[in-house]
Parts: sequence; structure tokens; C-alpha cells
Amino acid sequence: PGAVDDYVNSHLQTPASNKYHNALEHIREKSIAAGLPDIACSAAQAKYLAIQVKIAKAKNILELGTLGGFSAAWMASAGPDVKVTTVELEEHNANVASKNIAEAGLQNQIDIQRGAGLGVLPKLVAEVKAGQRPEFDFIFIDADKQNNLAYLNLALPASRSGTVVIVDNVVRQGRIAYPDEAAKDERISATRNLIETIGKDERLDATVIQTVGEKSYDGFLFAIKK
Ligand code: DHB
Ligand code: MG
Repeated sequence: PGAVDDYVNSHLQTPASNKYHNALEHIREKSIAAGLPDIACSAAQAKYLAIQVKIAKAKNILELGTLGGFSAAWMASAGPDVKVTTVELEEHNANVASKNIAEAGLQNQIDIQRGAGLGVLPKLVAEVKAGQRPEFDFIFIDADKQNNLAYLNLALPASRSGTVVIVDNVVRQGRIAYPDEAAKDERISATRNLIETIGKDERLDATVIQTVGEKSYDGFLFAIKK
């Protein structure tokens, strides 16, 4: 699967395809060099996110889990009027992301909010409610998996009909299909709870798309707010 990513990216992710191409490639390398774990989404997946941003005509993106800024930069590259508010708990990650984003020239489009999602999100939502910040029209959740449902429930009231929600890593080598895997790993049980709860949530219409590639076998939850 990694060879397929290499092959397709060599044709579909060229310097001519995106003015940020080289900067985006460097974000991954620089993040790993700075000691961040190699768990950012793949380039093919990041471009998929950017294309979804364009399809949705999203302008105010919320991201949980900045890591080195790779996915935030990709989503911001969807257009000059796209703003990304991205939340990161780890000080070192946020510092690396801040540097990467500035070096890519995307600092005016990306606001890194430092702190735990459960602390930062209520403040952001209160600002939306007070009219001090636009509603979120695109939400990408890619942080600590145990809190996926909490992040979704906090963020949804600050979104609108048509808001897109994407959650990363909801398949985990297929392990989410098995209750005995959930018993061994809180990330799996939390993901199962997320999927089962969304299935009963009248605010959302959702599906899961399984993926393979350089990031192995995993998947995205993909939802739209009714
Ligand atoms: C992990 C987290 C991610 O967001 C990811 O895409 C892959 C792995 C992890 O915590 O292991
Ligand atoms: Mg992820």
C-alpha cells in the first residue's frame, strides 16, 4: 500500500499541483526531525482533507490535535480565505507546528490554541456563541481518541447545518469491529462508543471509510450536520 501512495503521489502531488507543495513535504520531515511521533496523516489523506474543505466551501475549520501542523497546513492550503483553529496540548508539538506553519507562510491562516481540548474548546464555543468567532463549518478530530466523543459534543453546538465532521483513526487495523479488542484498549472502546453514539444522534448523518496506504489499515469517520 505504501508503494501505491508513492506512485500516485508522484503524479498527483507535484510542485506544480500546489503552491505549498514543498513546504508541506518539509513539515512532515521537520516534525520527525524535531522528535514528534510519525503519526500525522499521510500526504494522500491530507490532500483528501483539503479537497473536502474545498467541496464543502468551508472557511472556519476546527482541528483537535495539531501535532506538527501537517494537516492544518494542508487544510489551510485549500484557499487563502480558509482559517484553521487548531488545538494542541503538547507544548513541544505546538512550538514545532508554529515554526513549521510560519516557514510555510501560512501563519495568518492558522491559529494554534495551546492547551487541552477539554479546556480550550469550551472557550472557543463560548466565543462563537457570543458572536466573537464564526461558526465552525468543518471539524477534524485527530487527538487523544478517548475524548473523541467529548470533543464532538462540545464542538457541534458551535457548528451549523452542513458542517463536515471527520474523525481520524476509527478503524485501527480492523480492531474496532471486536469487543474483546475494546476491552484491551481504551482507544478502541472509545471509538466504538463514538460510532454507536453517532448512530443514535439525530444531529448527524455519518459513515466510516476504511483506508489503506503508507499509514497502514485505518479509516476516517465522515459526517455531516443535518
Ligand atoms: C496514533 C494517533 C493518530 O492520530 C494516528 O493517525 C495514528 C496513530 C496513535 O496515537 O497511536
Ligand atoms: Mg490520526
